Amino acid sequence: MKQLEGLSALVTGGARGIGLEIASAFAREGASVLLGDVSADEAAAAAAGLASANGVKAAGIRLDVTDAASCEAAIEESVKTFGKLDILVNNAGITKDNLVLRMKPEDFDAVISVNLKGSFLMSKAAAKVMLRARTGRIINISSVVGQAGQAGQANYSASKAGLIGLTKSLAKEFAPRGVLVNAIAPGFIETRMTDALKDEAKAAVTALIPLERFGKPADVAGAALFLAGPHSSYITGQVLAVNGGMYI
Ligand SMILES: NC(=O)c1ccc[n+]([C@@H]2O[C@H](COP(=O)([O-])OP(=O)(O)OC[C@H]3O[C@@H](n4cnc5c(N)ncnc54)[C@H](O)[C@@H]3O)[C@@H](O)[C@H]2O)c1
Repeated sequence: MKQLEGLSALVTGGARGIGLEIASAFAREGASVLLGDVSADEAAAAAAGLASANGVKAAGIRLDVTDAASCEAAIEESVKTFGKLDILVNNAGITKDNLVLRMKPEDFDAVISVNLKGSFLMSKAAAKVMLRARTGRIINISSVVGQAGQAGQANYSASKAGLIGLTKSLAKEFAPRGVLVNAIAPGFIETRMTDALKDEAKAAVTALIPLERFGKPADVAGAALFLAGPHSSYITGQVLAVNGGMYI
């Protein structure tokens, strides 16, 4: 039996990168998946690919996690399409890197708004369904820089550290109703987000990774599958580091 047979999942920022890889891993294990993304066309195309490759129900919708009404509509869409919502992955994220002295306040707000407040809005909307059902999993995609800090990423690392606090608080609030909330803190993973780094920056980061390589989206998807599936039923409020040993 597949690990997620009969379950349904919503992945924010699911059109590409880590989110799409997580959705693929879930679909391979039998889950129905809804991909929510500001890039609606990309999400719809990705969902069509998942459905045909895995023989599961999959759909892509426009979702802006900074907008409470859009978050509520996405949860409603999931319930309408699949009859329920078992798993939420708060994966949508952006960077607007700069040294603090050059960082515009609006770039600080924008990153907090997507990465942290967006996860709060989605979790709040999902909780209405999950708490009533007395079951559910929420997985927040944090980052190693939320644990260790990073020069040039004060906004991003603050958002990802905040997400860890959100994870722990939601875990305590939701546990009595059977809803488990955990975070994954990836290290540096090969996606469009890290493609933007210059070669020298990539080499400097690689020198800090004991496993001597960037991770792959599939490395993060494996951890997400574990936290969504039957083998993690007594785990909540935890941060699972997927970082090649970069921060221990
Ligand atoms: N790539 C890495 O090295 C790395 C490391 C640690 C954590 N992360 C985190 O993993 C997550 C995915 O990163 P990725 O590397 O796949 O990035 P990516 O840029 O490839 O994908 C991010 C996705 O989020 C979507 N998105 C952006 N703003 C949105 C919004 N307001 N509402 C809905 N969707 C939105 C984008 O359209 C995109 O499809 C992010 O939260 C990122 O911070 C990435």
